[in-house]
Amino acid sequence: MIIFGVESSCDDTCAAVLDVTAENGRMAFRLLSNIVSSQTEIHARYGGVVPEIASRAHGEAISAICDEAIETAGIKYTDIDAVAVTFAPGLIGSLLVGVSFAKALASSLGVPLIPVNHIEAHASATYLEYPGLPDSFLALIVSGGHTSLYRVEDSVFTEIGGTRDDAAGEAFDKVGRVMGLPYPGGAAMDKLAARGFLREDYKKIKFPPPATTDGTLEPSFSGLTTAAITPLHNLTQKAGLESGALLPEETKEDVAAAFTAVTVGGICDKLREAVEQTGIRTVVMAGGVAANSHLRLAAGKTCESLGVTFCTPSLKLCADNGAMTAAAGAKLMKFGCFADSTLNAYASDEAAAEYTEKLRGSGDLH
Ligand code: KG4
Ligand code: ZN
Repeated sequence: MIIFGVESSCDDTCAAVLDVTAENGRMAFRLLSNIVSSQTEIHARYGGVVPEIASRAHGEAISAICDEAIETAGIKYTDIDAVAVTFAPGLIGSLLVGVSFAKALASSLGVPLIPVNHIEAHASATYLEYPGLPDSFLALIVSGGHTSLYRVEDSVFTEIGGTRDDAAGEAFDKVGRVMGLPYPGGAAMDKLAARGFLREDYKKIKFPPPATTDGTLEPSFSGLTTAAITPLHNLTQKAGLESGALLPEETKEDVAAAFTAVTVGGICDKLREAVEQTGIRTVVMAGGVAANSHLRLAAGKTCESLGVTFCTPSLKLCADNGAMTAAAGAKLMKFGCFADSTLNAYASDEAAAEYTEKLRGSGDLH
């Protein structure tokens, strides 16, 4: 079965072709293409994603990206058996471009349309590289918009914790911006921190931990972010510099290392508590921030010390892509979670969850 995945929830226009077969009673996946058109350069000059510009750029790119996914996979549009599309959460104007395209495509081909939640898609990327991944696991989603923990059972995601304020990616990006890193600064922060970790100086910088100690699985990153940004502003001003970008490299590396150490430590503390509270023996970590080399190492070690299995997608599948949407769609197919031409896009997690619940309740909206 060929599943076509479409993703446009933020600033990447993505399409993928996934071949799904049954092997020994389990789904087997073969990714035939996975095309991503990034708008990073367009938004970099504004220091963040501009929603209006993002949706226009999706509109301009989507046809060509889908054509490229089809061509790269070496198939024809008529070979598609189902279309999976991200319908929530995300920027509404961006989501609507993918949803409209997918609705038109599914309707013209006469194939099912599968509405996919972006967060669930991030976790589902893991299926593509871990064929033995069980249907029940603990998911830690760390991205630009989320730092959340879910209990996953047979593709049903139940949120058991999450950040009280900023997401981890947002925090990395905010601190990166003050140091003059191009948006989004997460990947550059990763590299700066790696150089900072080579020295001892970063250990002298004390930042407040994001992990709350009240027994909840709800970290808080805003205090930590402010604590990192304020001294950077002060140092920049004191030195009479025009921007934090002009601070000495070693200062930036030390701050990045200290910030990363505390952020990663806080995320791993909540991951540990979640494993202990739920007793779940398999952990999946996904989302853009799951690409962070320091977090990958620390989360892996945390799971190892708890004796639980740790699975995380390779770097290219951590960032937004259409393959993860197609994989999530494949899993949803067995529940008959299909949408019709009334499918809408939803910006919030709550609206997305409400829609999914309704869909599951009725089995099929046709
Ligand atoms: O999942 P994603 O591509 O988009 C959302 O759904 O939000 O995540 C994007 C986020 C950005 O905040 C970006 O800075 C962050 O992931 N990111 C990283 C790294 N690579 C991407 N953060 C820390 N370290 C990285 N290596
Ligand atoms: Zn994402």
